[in-house]
Amino acid sequence: MLIDPSYIRDRIRTVPDWPQAGVQFRDITPLLQDPKTFRVLVDCFVHRYMDHDIDVVAGVDARGFILGAVIAYELNRGFVPVRKKGKLPFTTVAEEYELEYGSATVELHSDAITPGQRVLLIDDLVATGGTMIAAARLIRRLGGEVIEAAAIVDLPELGGSRLVQEQGIPLFTVCDFA
Ligand code: PRP
Ligand code: HPA
Repeated sequence: MLIDPSYIRDRIRTVPDWPQAGVQFRDITPLLQDPKTFRVLVDCFVHRYMDHDIDVVAGVDARGFILGAVIAYELNRGFVPVRKKGKLPFTTVAEEYELEYGSATVELHSDAITPGQRVLLIDDLVATGGTMIAAARLIRRLGGEVIEAAAIVDLPELGGSRLVQEQGIPLFTVCDFA
């Protein structure tokens, strides 16, 4: 890795009791706000994937869009959005996944990935892993190969990164909060 994980971890803000009591929310916005940190972070992903023959970058609604689009631009590849239910106008494929309470659905345009494409999947954070796994399923249903799923942060105590890898999805995260 190009950077010391603690350089990034130390610049993530922890907000106690948000969005509900007991949650320590890891807020990545300070990483984006500081131009040097944003550049170092993006470069870390770009250098990792520049020799992986990526065809397209998929980013997850909403925070995965920020990093995913910039990485796609720097790799000179297209970007496709994995969106929350009901936001995409054309025909879609959908995957439902479990939240702590209830469920959520992510969607991808049915022509976003062509069979055989090598896809890099980007989000900001892996918690329970439900979002990343659902996004990877969409890509696979369209015939894409998830070369790697990547995020800035892993929350390993929630077990998501283990579940993602158990689904055969290679996972890279820059730092964790254990
Ligand atoms: C957060 C985060 C990931 C997901 C991780 O997004 O940005 O996408 O949750 O959680 P999981 O591993 O338990 O699935 P959120 O659903 O809060 O949406 P937002 O980006 O629109 O705030
Ligand atoms: N930070 C950001 N997104 C999240 C978190 C968090 O701590 N937990 C689940 N999604």
